[in-house]
Amino acid sequence: MYMKYKRNVLINLMTYLAMKRLLLIIGMGLSFNSVAQAATSALDGKAIFDKNCSVCHSVLPPPKTAPPITPLASRYHQMFKAKKDGVNHLVAYLKSPNKNNAIDPQAITRFGLMPALRLPDSELRAVAEWVWDQYNPNMGMGRGMGMGQGQGMGMGRGRGMNQQ
Ligand code: HEC
Repeated sequence: MYMKYKRNVLINLMTYLAMKRLLLIIGMGLSFNSVAQAATSALDGKAIFDKNCSVCHSVLPPPKTAPPITPLASRYHQMFKAKKDGVNHLVAYLKSPNKNNAIDPQAITRFGLMPALRLPDSELRAVAEWVWDQYNPNMGMGRGMGMGQGQGMGMGRGRGMNQQ
């Protein structure tokens, strides 16, 4: 009788420990999941672009009411060696666009000045990083899916880029 009771306690204890471990694993899984979700929602530059920028900017030519992003990204890569510097410049520009700061003042003549964007810094940074990453070294060089040449030359003529 006593032995049986002891064994039951032991079994209960083991079940308890197993459950605890299981809960811990589930808990870890859940928190990993929410960390991952927070990371994507805070840093999804493409989603921020779609929501806040795509009204005016297309990614590829032809332009909407602003220069397309891919040639702007090329321009940023021409002007800034380090991603950090390019991103910092773009974040500052998004907050307060002005002629002296613009990487392509001709775009202002053609499209008008971009309005300042009231977004949290974290979102501006994420979208700026996304813009930087849209650079395609093959564009405008006649390589890269056979689209590079046409678009690269088209933009070059239209906006005075690639002409140095
Ligand atoms: C209401 C229209 C509009 C919206 C919305 C808009 N832009 Fe612009 N953007 C423009 C126009 C017009 C220009 C060209 C004139 C200029 O440079 O100010 C421009 C210029 C730019 C440039 C070139 C900046 C430079 O350094 O010269 C970048 C990069 C850019 N936009 C990215 C974005 C991003 C990213 C967003 C969203 C977070 C955005 N724009 C939202 C209209 C817009």
